[in-house]
Amino acid sequence: LLTPTRLDPAPAPGAVAAQDLRGKRFVLVGDGTPVAQALVTRLTVLGAIASRIGDDLEGHQGAVDGLIHVGALADHGEPVLPGAFPLFQAALRRSPRWLLAAHHAKDTSGLAGFFRTVAREYPDTVARSVEVDPSRGAAEQAEVIVEELLAPDREPVVLRTDRTRRGIAPRELSLGLLATSGAGPAGTGVAEATVLGLGPDSVVVLAGGGRGITARFAVALAAASRCRIELLGRTELPDLPDEFSDARDKAALRAALIARGGLKPAEIERTVGRILAQREISSTLAEIHDAGGQAGYRAVDLRDAEAVQQAVKETYTTYGRIDGVVHAAGVIEDKLLAEKDPDSFRRVYGTKVDGARTLLAALHRLPQLPRFTVLFGSISAVFGNRGQIDYAAANDALARIGRRWQDATGTRALTVHWGPWAPTGAHDGMVGPELGREYARRGIELIDPEEGVLALLRELAWGDSGTDEVVYTASGW
Ligand SMILES: NC(=O)c1ccc[n+]([C@@H]2O[C@H](COP(=O)([O-])OP(=O)(O)OC[C@H]3O[C@@H](n4cnc5c(N)ncnc54)[C@H](OP(=O)(O)O)[C@@H]3O)[C@@H](O)[C@H]2O)c1
Repeated sequence: LLTPTRLDPAPAPGAVAAQDLRGKRFVLVGDGTPVAQALVTRLTVLGAIASRIGDDLEGHQGAVDGLIHVGALADHGEPVLPGAFPLFQAALRRSPRWLLAAHHAKDTSGLAGFFRTVAREYPDTVARSVEVDPSRGAAEQAEVIVEELLAPDREPVVLRTDRTRRGIAPRELSLGLLATSGAGPAGTGVAEATVLGLGPDSVVVLAGGGRGITARFAVALAAASRCRIELLGRTELPDLPDEFSDARDKAALRAALIARGGLKPAEIERTVGRILAQREISSTLAEIHDAGGQAGYRAVDLRDAEAVQQAVKETYTTYGRIDGVVHAAGVIEDKLLAEKDPDSFRRVYGTKVDGARTLLAALHRLPQLPRFTVLFGSISAVFGNRGQIDYAAANDALARIGRRWQDATGTRALTVHWGPWAPTGAHDGMVGPELGREYARRGIELIDPEEGVLALLRELAWGDSGTDEVVYTASGW
């Protein structure tokens, strides 16, 4: 469970503490916010040199000791990410001592996951997201932000929404007796599916469920409830039988395509990837049937709002209901922040975040909302992870979006931040054999897929319905 924890108070910017700021050059982003103006005034009084800039650092001469982003505090402020990524990247190239973004609780950018990762990649920079209280005046909010510049700890996520200064930390919590005794422990998921009200007439939509770890969950859900599973993913299923069915793995497929000729090397790799993805989806569909469920698949890109809207609407119209939804679509393109191409940031971030917004918007139009929504997040959002700036921010954003959905609709929305799952051969997911070995070398244990799917079913069935964000991991990070 992720809960606020008390931190040491930040020093008030009195004479001694503020010495640190004297002569330092700050740039402030957040035109139109009274807090930006109040910050300029306050920093200037404290002897710093503060100037307001637009959305980029181009044309800004000289050193940048600190960048403070308060754009999210504007009344109708856009989420800070992904738009501000190039600006943060440009600022970090100038090795600032401070990089800070202030926001209100309503911001769904995923700033916490972003700043946790910045803190890991830039240990010499004070990297911090600060949640401030919108009911306080601009000068008071500015004062809190200045205090956070002076706080000596390196806490990357700070809540300053009441009189105490708080961070966020995971706390281990058991699910209670029912999950480990009585109806719960059979280990088949049947008791959990019953508690969730899932049976043969139920319909669950899983975005990203045709492949990887979500396919494991889809099969387990089908076995436990015999419900209808509707899978969404980008891969188109072929109309014709697999002409390379004898070539069972990547190497054999590659060899078969080379032997047939006519394709360039890059096309061969793409084709191999597509055929393996198609086979994996077909095998998931077959497994769902074998488990006693009914299965459907639609090729839908979650970033395509119209296609998602249509898929959700058609599913509801055809079956008269959608009981639950899982959004697990995601891609990774790991790179250190300094080397990250902003387009790649948008792709990784957008698949999760735009995908979630699009899917929830489509659900919102239905006559009846699903009873539960699950968002597949990642442990990298909770602790930050070098090389995953986009992915960490996106998975944190998912949790913020889920919380707002839960608050707005009163239906359950649970974000599960998974640690790495063990590869299982045909359905490895994002952790393939190579990454699995790397985790083993670092002493990081992997989630056993059977345990992982049951853990999610148990959390949904026996967990506190007010809990909207949990971490499941086999070992520390
Ligand atoms: N595996 C792990 O250890 C682990 C750990 C933490 C969190 N997670 C999370 O769990 C989820 C599944 O991960 P995985 O390991 O199973 O990865 P995976 O095997 O790469 O599966 C990702 C799934 O998302 C789909 N997808 C990607 N982009 C899409 C888009 N734009 N529209 C629709 N579908 C899209 C993919 O299908 P197509 O390619 O056909 O579109 C695929 O089914 C992800 O959200 C990931 O962040 C996984």
